[in-house]
Amino acid sequence: MNTSMNKKYPFLSLKLANEPFEEELKQAACDVIASGWYLQGEQTCLLEQEIAALCHTRHCVAVSNGLDALRLIIRAYKEMGVLHDNDKIIVPADTFTASALAVSDNGLIPCFVDVRTDTMNLDSDLIERHITPDVKGIMPVHLYGTPSWDMKLMTVARQYKLIVIEDNAQAIGAMAAVAGFAGTRVTGSLGNAAAISFYPTKNLGALGDAGAVVTNDNELAATVRAIAHYGCDRRYHNIYRGVNCRIDELQAAMLRVKLRHLNEENKRRREVALAYNSYITHPHVTRPTIFDDMTQVWHQYVIRCSKRDKLREYLDGRDVGTDIHYATPPHCQPCYKEYNDLALPVTMTIASQAVSLPIAHPITADDAIAISSIINEFEE
Ligand SMILES: Cc1ncc(COP(=O)(O)O)c(C=O)c1O
Repeated sequence: MNTSMNKKYPFLSLKLANEPFEEELKQAACDVIASGWYLQGEQTCLLEQEIAALCHTRHCVAVSNGLDALRLIIRAYKEMGVLHDNDKIIVPADTFTASALAVSDNGLIPCFVDVRTDTMNLDSDLIERHITPDVKGIMPVHLYGTPSWDMKLMTVARQYKLIVIEDNAQAIGAMAAVAGFAGTRVTGSLGNAAAISFYPTKNLGALGDAGAVVTNDNELAATVRAIAHYGCDRRYHNIYRGVNCRIDELQAAMLRVKLRHLNEENKRRREVALAYNSYITHPHVTRPTIFDDMTQVWHQYVIRCSKRDKLREYLDGRDVGTDIHYATPPHCQPCYKEYNDLALPVTMTIASQAVSLPIAHPITADDAIAISSIINEFEE
């Protein structure tokens, strides 16, 4: 009997994803409970040092979630007089809505720019035609774990003196080629500041909400830290009308456990992506591109198929779970009515064809090969 015929491939099970670390997580949680210190303690401090080291940045401020990390960066630039109400920030049209929400929530305007079919990231050749005196920043999003960084983006940012805020929610540990720099550089260290999400499904996921800001800018880091703590630069001294966006010690401790295993998790994801790319041969399925000059971390493995719904139904019938990232791009959301008619053809094509295949632990390269054979037998 061929057992692989009967194997189930759920799209994602957080229980299974966290199972390898269960004992370490329980111990770390017990240690926090026993410490009697639940906010802004040793775990947060150590996590910040470890994330800054991983991202090769001088600072890390651990915060409540990835959206807050993005919001805090923009708010801090406003407090510093760098960004102002109604400034425009270039945002890729194909992203999770949170990227745009961080901009509009701060009273700035997202300027949606189309993406490339190969990287599914911001098409930097299109940025310049959107530049107006109001455009003050770019938010490259390293979608699905593929760095959004190239010579053109760097050149335009420099030429027009644009602040670059990386949305690194999905790409912790990824490496991008950087012109004029030997080798690759880790995402999060490429722009002026970056936001990271530790949402539970992420490659480095907490057991609840958490996020971080990383930057080499001393003033920005101090401003973000103050705003996230009620706007205080010291106890009971509010220099900003701040918010409470702190991470808690339990999540910091959970993340420190999982951080020890991030490299192997990212490596496993790369092996699974490579297996899918090598074995999916269906003529009507487009595989994502694996780039030689960067290190992708495959937060999602996204194929495209014009018969997307039929393919999903077929896979579901063979116990292969799938998902869609993202069926409705931000500019088509009801909250962004004024953008609904924008012409963003590549984003719309991707939104109508994208299917995410299982890639989280415990999926192995062998599982990917088995799933690929199932896909190859799909009859449209
Ligand atoms: C691209 C992107 N930006 C921002 C966020 C927001 O992160 P969080 O869910 O931690 O608020 C996410 C994640 O969910 C994301 O995928």
